[in-house]
Amino acid sequence: MRNRTSAFLLLICIAASTTFAQQQAIVPAQPWADTDGVPINAHGGGVILQKGKYYWFGEKRGRSASEGVSVYSSKDLVSWNNEGLALALRDNPNSDITKGAIIERPKVIYNPKTKKYVMWFHLELKGQGYKAARAGVAVSDAITGPFQFIESFRPNDNMSRDMTLFVDDDGSAYHLYSSNENYDLRVAKLTDDFLRPTTQDSLLFSKHREAPAIFKVGKQYYLITSACTGWAPNKASLHKANSIFGPWEYAGDPLHGPLAEITYGGQSTFVLPITQNKFVFMADKWNPQDLKNSTYIWLPLQVNAEGEVAVHWKEKWSPADL
Ligand code: DGJ
Repeated sequence: MRNRTSAFLLLICIAASTTFAQQQAIVPAQPWADTDGVPINAHGGGVILQKGKYYWFGEKRGRSASEGVSVYSSKDLVSWNNEGLALALRDNPNSDITKGAIIERPKVIYNPKTKKYVMWFHLELKGQGYKAARAGVAVSDAITGPFQFIESFRPNDNMSRDMTLFVDDDGSAYHLYSSNENYDLRVAKLTDDFLRPTTQDSLLFSKHREAPAIFKVGKQYYLITSACTGWAPNKASLHKANSIFGPWEYAGDPLHGPLAEITYGGQSTFVLPITQNKFVFMADKWNPQDLKNSTYIWLPLQVNAEGEVAVHWKEKWSPADL
């Protein structure tokens, strides 16, 4: 009996140390557990750094339904603590974000003037499939929420589906969004409080692209996008520009390695700055049969002195080695 107990304890120790070992590195496209050992549920997300901690906001999904926006925190980008629901769907049937609505690609930025965290997301109204094509906005005093939903709209009357936010060096913020049935990619400068689009809203290009992930090195803007093939993976492309309003010039596919031609089976969502020329490329490997168990493809993204962008596939890597 004593021997069996010792063997059992040994097995528990081995299992615990295996779990611990897995959490020392990012393992793209594999299940990723939070610090409670539960798979991270934060898809189509984005990350912001505040006071030395990273916060990862993303879609909380059931098998298919939206369950709001979740938020996780981490000091090392590997080990993530579940901070709960940053934005919950409402029971009120009159709310735009009533249960049954679809919330996708949430992004959060901080407004130093209002001292508020501002969240934008792609919103589809309950029971309308992907017809509504709206942007939703919510705010919070605390980074982990709860965010208060303000309103949803079509920016400057344009359809708005896949989207991201970007804060430029001068503090101006922008909403980049797929419009016109996803044929157009647009950018709108936000008002000073980041809550509304201004009428400085223009077409970036009309190439039927979505899943925008923008970043900047020096004065150069870069934008990774996907083609529009539903949940199925496709080829990524990179565009670059000297002004966020363009002109945006095609710069190839920056991904390398096995399955690079289909974004390693995933779709871009965000590019997180680490240093001036080192970033983390973030993508989702969607599982349309069970969205909550879609996995994450995070890989180092580098920009060399010539301004060339490269992402190389890695089975496993550590942000500490960036
Ligand atoms: C592709 C988008 O990038 C996803 O966010 C999601 O909207 C799916 N389409 C739905 O098919």
